Amino acid sequence: MVTDTLDRPLRDLRISVTDRCNFRCTYCMPKEQFGSDHDFLPRSSLLDFDEIVRLVRVFADQGVRKIRLTGGEPLVRAELERLVEGIAAVDGIEDIALTTNGSLLSSKRARTLADAGLDRITVSLDAFDDAVFMAINDVGFPVGKVLDGIANADAAGLNVKINTVVQRGVNEDQILPLAGCFRGSGHVLRFIEFMDVGTTNGWRLDDVVSAREIRDRIDAVWPLESLEPNYPGEVARRWRYRDGTGEIGVIASVTQPFCRSCTRARLSAEGALYTCLFAGVGTDLRGLLRSDVDDARLAEEVRSIWTRRDDRYSELRSSETVIRPKVEMSYIGG
Ligand code: GTP
Ligand code: 5AD
Ligand code: SF4
Ligand code: SF4
Repeated sequence: MVTDTLDRPLRDLRISVTDRCNFRCTYCMPKEQFGSDHDFLPRSSLLDFDEIVRLVRVFADQGVRKIRLTGGEPLVRAELERLVEGIAAVDGIEDIALTTNGSLLSSKRARTLADAGLDRITVSLDAFDDAVFMAINDVGFPVGKVLDGIANADAAGLNVKINTVVQRGVNEDQILPLAGCFRGSGHVLRFIEFMDVGTTNGWRLDDVVSAREIRDRIDAVWPLESLEPNYPGEVARRWRYRDGTGEIGVIASVTQPFCRSCTRARLSAEGALYTCLFAGVGTDLRGLLRSDVDDARLAEEVRSIWTRRDDRYSELRSSETVIRPKVEMSYIGG
């Protein structure tokens, strides 16, 4: 098992399969920066599925057990099922999840993904009201179609969670409607504090609605009690409705950072490895993959990167005095 300078093992690999998305969420891919003239990664730069599966094997040998596929929007990548199938066949991988905006989750796609070996789906949904949702996704996409996608995933037997990023003055009024919508549905709704990822979303601390405030607002209407984490290092704090109608999670990445237990590595669509969501630069693995090195050499590279890792950006955020370059969320996934 490989550990970093803070004694954190390498357990999770989050893989971005594309930097493209069919939404233009104002806080993630604002149209001004991601217009029709935007240079997305060319096809030849993307890792192909064989390359990704080979890396998953190398990472699994170093202790990775959980895989999350992200984007951009991962479902815009053709034949993603083939990748899921390849990853599911890797020894050691216990859990494969996908983060999606839910817009492309037809019942057929949900079934083929589940059949390929996908275990879980996390659908991002930032509002229950159409007007608010459309103003956020900025492509006029209605809430109802995302709810259809969630129902399709559920019917296919996938475990479904919902993620909501809360921004002050943008969708804070959606906290209760969303909680009301998913209470009793069997799906865990998780609220995420708005973070300063990347450099294009114009983040200010004033835009953050704290996890405590989110919890308090729900608790005032539907009383909550806290639950123990499902596993050590779980990012979300869990709360259950006292009336037995299910649970919610809050992800306090800004007000209560969880870097101490961060076991996540991130792989960009073009094969660069990042050891933190807020890293400015990654280490290219594609070059090595495309030279004729063996897996042992790849493993050595991964171990050397992880052994040197000292990232804990969220803990240091408030003491940062210089603005450093950071990758965009659409490039590295959530
Ligand atoms: P489960 O495996 O279902 O518990 O979920 P997860 O821990 O993989 O969480 P998910 O990928 O759904 O993450 C939800 C959100 O939490 C992300 O979109 C990010 O906003 C935030 N988040 C996840 N991982 C990290 C992290 O390592 N650092 C920070 N700062 N935020 C993170
Ligand atoms: N802060 C918190 N979460 C974010 N996401 C995208 N940008 C941010 C941000 N600045 C979320 C998306 C999705 C996941 C991939 O990351 O809404 O749920
Ligand atoms: Fe696309 Fe998700 Fe970013 Fe919205 S938050 S633009 S759906 S990648
Ligand atoms: Fe991990 Fe970096 Fe997030 Fe801290 S800020 S939890 S080190 S990804």
